[in-house]
Amino acid sequence: MQLKMMTPMATLLPLLFLLFSISSAASSPHAHDDFIHCLSLHSSNSNSISKLVYTPHNQSYESVLESSVRNLRFTLPKTPKPVVIVTPLHESEIQAAIHCSKQTGLPIRVRSGGHDYEGLSYVSHESPYAVIDLQNFDSVDVDVENRTAWVQVGTTLGRLYYRIAEKSKTLAFPAGVCPTVGVGGHFSGGGYGMISRKHGLAIDNIIDARLIDVNGRILDRKAMGEDLFWAIRGGGGASFGVILSWKINLVPVPKNVTVFTVNRSSEQNATQLIDRWQNIADKVDDDLLIRLYISGTNSSQDGKKSIQASFVSMYLGGIEKLLPLMQESFPELGLAREDCTEMSWIESILYFAGYSGESLEILLNRTSSLAYFKGKSDYLTEPISEKGLNVIYKMINEGNLETSEVLFSPYGGRISEVSESDTPFPHRSGTLCNIHYAAVWEQEGAEAFNRHMKWMRKLYKEMAPYVSKSPRAAYLNYRDLDLGVNGKGNYTSYAQASIWGIRYFSNNFRRLAQVKTKVDPSNFFRNEQSIPVLA
Ligand code: FDA
Repeated sequence: MQLKMMTPMATLLPLLFLLFSISSAASSPHAHDDFIHCLSLHSSNSNSISKLVYTPHNQSYESVLESSVRNLRFTLPKTPKPVVIVTPLHESEIQAAIHCSKQTGLPIRVRSGGHDYEGLSYVSHESPYAVIDLQNFDSVDVDVENRTAWVQVGTTLGRLYYRIAEKSKTLAFPAGVCPTVGVGGHFSGGGYGMISRKHGLAIDNIIDARLIDVNGRILDRKAMGEDLFWAIRGGGGASFGVILSWKINLVPVPKNVTVFTVNRSSEQNATQLIDRWQNIADKVDDDLLIRLYISGTNSSQDGKKSIQASFVSMYLGGIEKLLPLMQESFPELGLAREDCTEMSWIESILYFAGYSGESLEILLNRTSSLAYFKGKSDYLTEPISEKGLNVIYKMINEGNLETSEVLFSPYGGRISEVSESDTPFPHRSGTLCNIHYAAVWEQEGAEAFNRHMKWMRKLYKEMAPYVSKSPRAAYLNYRDLDLGVNGKGNYTSYAQASIWGIRYFSNNFRRLAQVKTKVDPSNFFRNEQSIPVLA
């Protein structure tokens, strides 16, 4: 639309900008040697620089690179790899890395937990490039009296939850379910978890942050200003600087919460239950969050997978209160006392992460088992019709997938009380739920790879009539490069980026681009889906 309205001169400008940008960003053939040399000159701990820097010549390069890779899709020989990985111990070393990247033209990627769905924190198609891996920045400072904590970005969610529970049994934080996710990427993209209907997303509970900007300055909320502080809470951190730490408000939870998982097959009225769930999930008591998983089990006799609906729930209270609440709002599920277990909030973290019997210390692990994975997301503003559900059932039986799953996460409650423009995350009032599609496989080789990827793209295409439209919304934390990528090199056109930007950010996309233009006009912090600079 915008392009059509341009004059011939205006259409030439982006091209000129492209040529200029590529030449100014190009790195020399020795950029990585120059980069390391520069680091040793500018790092305050120059003696120990060799312990922080890994190149493919180092024995530990592979293990450091793979330590935070969470998707086998990005371990293939064809996957681009960084020429340098820096694992700073001090903030000054991150400042030095930014300075040296600018000096030598070697682009950088920033990695906290490494869970990016497209591996953008360690895979770049702008080659060569370096990775700043922040896994050493993992301290958590909990202030029980003021109900706050400062959390460094390399901390995993499991570690954060563990440290909170160490200090208090009745304080918690509303963020994601997987304990190995890093708070650097997760918080900057939104952060949804099992108590989000009651307490909102992670970004709704962030009260301060520390960030290194493109000029190497360390800025807190006051120094960075409200526009930049707004942008990094939902707009993704990678476009704006290197976030060092977050100050968060902790939220109250009862000593005991109640969890349950109830599975129902097609023969047990799964479709009717799913239909009912869609009508109540965003409206029930805020203390209650019921997630719905649709998957296939190999149990039916005709070789077809039987559809299974799993209702996985967290209630911020005891069984005695939950049972009448469920009887009132979702009696069709037939929840029984035996289905429910009371436990502490921190034990519920283990439960939802799929652990049973392990000690809480497992939450301190940074790693978990690995598989190939492709994910995509959608949003619902109204229930999916039975015809739409049949598309999911049909697809679960198609393509001979190892594991496929469609997860519905209910919104409403506190999430929808925050206005669409308060943070860049726009999926607020009127959003029924998020849908997460997942294909997971372990089989090696191109055939399995292509089969699973093709299946996922077909499912996404076939779901179009049944999900949100104009835009067909998506969740940044479930990043999907199929939605579109920026141009190569340093050049990014707003029009081109809008294709995916509007889906993630809706009306907030323009403001994000304005903030980007102000704080990083040379587009130093960039990736395939970073916020563009306005021409
Ligand atoms: P990673 O380090 O890969 O970073 C992601 C992005 O943020 C990259 O672009 C990176 O450059 C940038 N970035 C990272 N640290 C930065 C920093 N310090 N400063 C600036 N930019 C930085 N989501 C959810 O809402 N609820 C959930 O329950 C889950 N569960 C879940 C399970 C599993 C197994 C996976 C793989 C993912 C999820 N997610 C999720 C999605 C998750 O929130 C998302 O992938 C986050 O971006 C991951 O953050 P990491 O720091 O781990 O990623």
